[in-house]
Amino acid sequence: MNDFHHFLRTRRSVRRFKPDPVPASVVDRILATAVHAPSAHNLQPWRFATVQKKINRKKLGEALTKKMQTDMRADGTDQAEIDKRVMISLRRIDEAPLIILLCRDMDAIRKEEPEEVEMGVQSVAMAGLQILLAAHAESLGGNWICWPLYAQNEARDSLKLPETWQPQAMIFLGYADETPTKALRQPAQKLLIVK
Ligand SMILES: Cc1cc2nc3c(=O)[nH]c(=O)nc-3n(C[C@H](O)[C@H](O)[C@H](O)COP(=O)(O)O)c2cc1C
Repeated sequence: MNDFHHFLRTRRSVRRFKPDPVPASVVDRILATAVHAPSAHNLQPWRFATVQKKINRKKLGEALTKKMQTDMRADGTDQAEIDKRVMISLRRIDEAPLIILLCRDMDAIRKEEPEEVEMGVQSVAMAGLQILLAAHAESLGGNWICWPLYAQNEARDSLKLPETWQPQAMIFLGYADETPTKALRQPAQKLLIVK
């Protein structure tokens, strides 16, 4: 296996971080690499909000957990469980050295067909993976978090982002404070039909 395959196969999700900040030059490099992802029609619909300041983490965390509480109450979850989930979520947002809110700009996609709208999501996901791999290249750990997808307006408004930016996910980045478990993967041969 060559080095690049090894590099790709050794990226793992990291969920515990050392408190050390991610230097601005490293963040710049990661995002400069992210925008080299492929995108449908080369429309590059990805947008990024980097969140580091305590006040903005707080705003984002409160917006996400407020919506989380509403959804969990509607599902009939008991209050103790809701409180526990909220506390854990706020702590994770507070402890992540860097948060990148990954958005799709609805003004930067074609909307004439549903397939085009979907391609916008696919394109943004390409940039998301590129961020995780670029972070891996910088010896950083990262984790894709889906919560903003459940609170798109709340996440966008909490950071006063443009109306057309639709949050898709957030990526936590930092220096790993855990050794992730070995990758659990089904072999490609089991997932393949050769015709
Ligand atoms: C679309 C998507 C949503 C995800 N959402 C979450 C999440 O909300 N929280 C989390 O801890 N990990 C999340 N993950 C990370 C996955 O759990 C992780 O990639 C998977 O378990 C495989 O582990 P690995 O990344 O270490 O290879 C998400 C990954 C993707 C691609």
